Amino acid sequence: MKLFIRIILLVSILPALSYGEEKLKHKEHESASEVEALSDDLRNLLSQEMQALQNGMMSIIPAYVSGNWKEIETIAGKIKNSYILKQSLTESQAKELHSVLPHEFIEKDQRFHYLAGMLEHAAKNRKPELINFYFSEMNESCVSCHVVFATHKFPALIPKTEGKHTH
Ligand code: HEC
Repeated sequence: MKLFIRIILLVSILPALSYGEEKLKHKEHESASEVEALSDDLRNLLSQEMQALQNGMMSIIPAYVSGNWKEIETIAGKIKNSYILKQSLTESQAKELHSVLPHEFIEKDQRFHYLAGMLEHAAKNRKPELINFYFSEMNESCVSCHVVFATHKFPALIPKTEGKHTH
């Protein structure tokens, strides 16, 4: 079952990384309701993962400013391996996830965890400026998913210019 999920993930790793522009032309908060349609169990898992992600991101700052690259490497590695799609979901939960959430969600999740892997790598190589770069890319990646899938949670992310052509 886990293998099955991994195969799906491998397939979804391939699409190009054009997420920056796509987030603007998307019908943002309509997708949020897809998340709200998940069963309570899955939503709780998702919430837990998000809290853990946020804690991980926050603990990178003291490690970064004190040059504790090893700590960053550890945190980034945990984030990379943490995500909901890799957790031990039951078979029916895995099916639910893939039938309820659109492919774009999985792509964004992939992108985020790719960046965590890059951060881990940069920390391993003790490259502060690259660490900073990937940390910032990860923050942007949080927002780029929330703006599409979590505006029910974070209504401030709903674009104010909605309906206008902004780019
Ligand atoms: C692939 C999509 C995606 C990515 C990437 C993502 N999130 Fe989320 N996040 C969500 C969704 C969807 C929700 C709303 C979950 C719900 O309503 O059940 C959410 C909710 C949250 C919450 C509220 C959790 C709660 O229920 O209390 C926090 C905190 C959070 N995210 C932090 C982060 C941080 C920090 C990052 C980046 C380091 C991040 N998220 C990256 C999709 C994502």
